[in-house]
This record gives sequence, C-alpha cells and structure tokens, in this order.
Amino acid sequence: MEKSLKNLWVISIIITQQLAFLSNASHSRKNIVPAFYVFGDSTVDPGNNNNINAHAKANVFPYGIDFNNCSTGRFTNGKTFADLIAIMLGLPMPPPYLGVSKSERYQVATGFNYASGSCGILNSTRARIYDLGARKFVITGIGQIGCIPISVTRTPFSQNCNEVVNQMVKPYSDKLPAKLEELQTQLSHSLFIILDTYNFFQKIRISPKNFGFKNVFDSCVQGGKPCANRKEYYFYDLVHPTEATNKVFANECFNGRELCFPHNIKKMIHAH
Ligand SMILES: *[C@@H]1O[C@H](CO)[C@@H](O)[C@H](O)[C@H]1NC(C)=O
Ligand SMILES: *[C@@H]1O[C@H](CO)[C@@H](O)[C@H](O)[C@H]1NC(C)=O
Ligand SMILES: *[C@@H]1O[C@H](CO)[C@@H](O)[C@H](O)[C@H]1NC(C)=O
Repeated sequence: MEKSLKNLWVISIIITQQLAFLSNASHSRKNIVPAFYVFGDSTVDPGNNNNINAHAKANVFPYGIDFNNCSTGRFTNGKTFADLIAIMLGLPMPPPYLGVSKSERYQVATGFNYASGSCGILNSTRARIYDLGARKFVITGIGQIGCIPISVTRTPFSQNCNEVVNQMVKPYSDKLPAKLEELQTQLSHSLFIILDTYNFFQKIRISPKNFGFKNVFDSCVQGGKPCANRKEYYFYDLVHPTEATNKVFANECFNGRELCFPHNIKKMIHAH
C-alpha cells in the first residue's frame, strides 16, 4: 500500500479522505458497532486543525452555517460524511481528538476523529490502526480533483473539468481494490470497503437532478457569502462538498449499491 500512496502523496493530502471504523467482533454479531474512528483530511476533519499551526482551517464563518451556525472547524456548511455515518451507526459524532482534553480522552469509548485538513499518510498508519484492533475499514479512493471548482475552467458556454488532473489521480482509485484485497488476505479477520468516489461523482455529474443538485460546478460560497439554496449545490467552497453532498454519499455508502464495494456499510456491520 505504501508505494501507491507515496506516489500520490501530494494529491492525496488535498482532498482525499481515509476513514476506518473499528468493530468489536463479538459485539458485531449483535449488529452493534461499539466504536467509530476516523482518519482523514479536510473532508472529514471536525476541528482538529483549529489550534494547530496549519494553513488549512475552517473555524470561521460561513463554515458551519448549518451546524447551528457554529464554525467548529468542519470544512462544510453542516455535517461531514463521517458525522453522518456515525449517526447512522447510532454512535455520537466522534469528537476531534485535539478538541478533547487529555483527562477527558479516557472517558470517550465510542471513537475519536483524527482527521486533519491537508494531512498526509504515514507508512506506519496501517500498523497504527490494525494492530490496535480495528477490523472493519472503509477506505475512500480519490475523487475527481480536476472537477472541484478551483480546478474547473469556465467559458461563457461551458464548464470543463481539468482532465489532466483527473487522469493523474485516477490510477489511485483504479489500483486501490486489488491492494485492499491483498491487505484483507494478509490481515486476518479484516474487512475492507472501498468508497468509489471517482465513479460515483461521475454519475452525479451526468445527472445531477437525480441526486437533488442543480449546481455541481460552482462554489456555494461566493465572496465570503453562502448561497441560500445550499441543498442544491454539490460544492460548498472551492474544494469541499456541501452537507447535501455528504448526505448523498453517506446514504449511498451505508444503504446503497452504487458507491461502496464490495458491500455497503450496513452489510459490513453484519458480516464477521
Ligand atoms: C469485545 O466485547 C467482549 C464481549 O462483550 C469483551 O469481553 C471484550 O473485552 C471487548 N473487546 C474490546 C477490545 O473492547
Ligand atoms: C451566523 O454567524 C455569523 C458569524 O458569527 C453571523 O454574522 C450571522 O449573522 C449568523 N447567522 C445566523 C443566521 O445566525
Ligand atoms: C515509506 O516506505 C517506503 C517503501 O517501503 C520507503 O521507500 C519510504 O522511505 C518510507 N517513508 C518514510 C517517511 O519512512
């Protein structure tokens, strides 16, 4: 895994997300997931960057306008994909690890969110997670970075993705399934799900209306002001999706068949 990750490090720190959840095998037979841990970048960061010396921060208005108008540090208007999955699992939204005091950390048994905007991936991550007991993993591919508003080129009559960028990141998603299959074989009792963001985004882009979107090219926030119809926008800022988008992805990965492979999360919870 390290090799393919290393090659795409520069890209993957921008907007990929990696997340994993850990399930106590004996509990999962009763269909309960005891804890949910999140590792990733800005797409799932709940505020870890607020108090560190990082450029990527979102604890300012208009982030969080639909999160009780509270700029928690989430890079979106409302909840992230990870927040929504936690809710579907019946768990609390995992708090930002750096937002919880050292003494309180011992009281949290249902998982933390370690995601940090603009993060990278360390070689030790895989060992940082499986050896600690995680068995069920949801791993995302890299989306079509060439289609985020900051990459799109606009002409009076059209909006075009930067296909050079898309082709640069595509091999990651293409190679991920085989790599995860290999890991699943090597790591006993592990289960991996892939979030095929690359191809699912393509489906949304071809027929946005089917998913409730009217705009899949522009940032909802313009000139520092959020748009009123946030539910119709795919992107909240120049890089990150709206809560509406996160909901489409969370619902599809949890219950559907078009985004997550080889199973959706609901099925994985029941598998052991
Ligand atoms: C998993 O659940 C079993 C049964 O409730 C318990 O004995 C065990 O300590 C749990 N393991 C972890 C890692 O929480
Ligand atoms: C949300 O918070 C911002 C910044 O604190 C404030 O300017 C704005 O009026 C608030 N909006 C609502 C709807 O409360
Ligand atoms: C990570 O692993 C790769 C492949 O084994 C190695 O080439 C690279 O130097 C490692 N990077 C770090 C920072 O240890």
